[in-house]
Amino acid sequence: MCRYVGYGFCLYQFLKHPSLPFHFNFSPKDFPKLKNDAFLLACRGQETPHVPVWCMRQAGRYLPEFRESRAGKDFFATCRSPAACCELTLQPLRRFPFDAAIIFSDILVIPQAMGMDVQMVAGKGPTFPEPLKEPEDLLLLQSKVDVNKELDYVFKAITLTRHKLEGKVPLIGFTGAPWTLMAYMIEGGGSTTQSKAKRWLYRHPEASHQLLKMLTDIIVEYLLGQVAAGAQALQVFESHAGCLGPAEFQEFSLPYLRDIARKVKDQLKESGQDVPMIVFAKDGHYGLEDLSQSHYEVVGLDWTIDPRSARERTGGKVSLQGNMDPCALYAPKERIYEIVKKMLEGFGTRGYIANLGHGLYPDMDPENVGAFVEAVHAHSRHLLNLK
Ligand code: CP3
Repeated sequence: MCRYVGYGFCLYQFLKHPSLPFHFNFSPKDFPKLKNDAFLLACRGQETPHVPVWCMRQAGRYLPEFRESRAGKDFFATCRSPAACCELTLQPLRRFPFDAAIIFSDILVIPQAMGMDVQMVAGKGPTFPEPLKEPEDLLLLQSKVDVNKELDYVFKAITLTRHKLEGKVPLIGFTGAPWTLMAYMIEGGGSTTQSKAKRWLYRHPEASHQLLKMLTDIIVEYLLGQVAAGAQALQVFESHAGCLGPAEFQEFSLPYLRDIARKVKDQLKESGQDVPMIVFAKDGHYGLEDLSQSHYEVVGLDWTIDPRSARERTGGKVSLQGNMDPCALYAPKERIYEIVKKMLEGFGTRGYIANLGHGLYPDMDPENVGAFVEAVHAHSRHLLNLK
C-alpha cells in the first residue's frame, strides 16, 4: 500500500498522527508463513518436537529494553500506538526462543472503550478515578460499543506485529474475562478482597448480570476483531477467579466464560476459521473440571495446582498451560532446571504448554527467564527422545 499512490495517503496520515510510522497500514492478509507451530499443535493436543513455552508478561519491566522504551511515556498512550505495541511484543523474542508472542496491550482497554477513565499510576497500578458505585451508574456506560472504532488501535497493533514477526512464532491475542473487568470497574483498581465488587454480587445480582452480559457481548466482538486482525490464538484472563467461591464462580464467571468461547467459535466456524482458545482462571482450582468442559482447547493453571492432579481432574479433555511459581525464577539456574524437570514429568509432553503460574515480576533476572525457556526445551526434547 505504501507505494506510489499510497505515499500521498501515508503522508496525510503521518501529518495527522505523527506518532505512527509510515508502515502502520499493513493489512490483515498475506501474512508470512508460520515457521514454528509447536504452540498451536500443543493447544490441540497434537505431537510436537518439544514442549512449547512462553511467559505471561514476557513483554514487561524485567527487560531493560522494555523499561527504556516505556520510559516517560504514559502506559495507555503506549497501548494506543501500534508501532510501540509491536516493538514491545517483539523485544522478548529477540532474547529468548519463546514459542509464542502475546500482543502488548492491557485488559483495561475495554472499560476505556465503554467510556470509563482509566489511568496507570506509577507505584499504584491501574486506577479508575470514577469507579462504578451503584447499579444506576451502569447507565453512564456505553453499552453498545463500536468495537471496530474504539479498539481499532489494538487491531492495528496485532496486524503490524503479525507481519513483523515474520512467521517466527504465532501471535496470541487476549482479553480480560467479564468478572475480572467488572471487579476493576467497581473497585477502581487493584484490591485484595474485591469486597466492593463482591458486594454487587450479593446485593445487586441482577445489575451484576446485566454488566457481565454487556461485557461479554463486547468481549466476543473484540476477540473476533483480534482474529480478523491476525491473532492466531486467544487467551481469556479471569485473573480475579480466586476471590469467588465455587457457587459464585458457577453463577457469575463460568457461564460468561462459556458464552465467550461458544460465540467466538460459532462465528469463526461460519467463516471456516478455527483459532485455539485458552482460559486462565487464576486461583480457580475449584472450577477445574468445569473449565475443562467450557469449549476452550487449553486451560491455564496457576502454581497452586499439582500437575498430575490437574491432568487427572481434566481427564485428557483439554491441553494444559502453566504453572511454575513465578518466584521459582529467583532460584539459581540449576534449581530452575530441576523444578522444570519435575513440572514436565508431571504434565507429560503431550497437550502441554509450559508457562508460569502468573506473570513475570519486574525484578526478575532476564537470564533466569532464559534458563527457564532453555530447560523446558532441553528436558522436553530429552523426554520425547526416550519415547
Ligand atoms: O507480555 C504480556 O503478557 C502481554 C501484555 C499484557 C499486559 N497486561 C501488559 C502490562 C497482558 C496480557 C496484560 C493483562 C492484564 N492487565 C491483566 C491480566 C493478567 C494478570 O496479570 O492477571 C491484568 C489484571 C491487567 C491489569 C494491569 N495492567 C495490572 C494489574 C498492571 C500492573 C500494574 C503495576 O504497576 O504493576 C498493569 C500494567 C501492565 N500491563 C504492565 C504491563 C507490561 C506494567 C506496567 C508498565 O509497563 O508500565
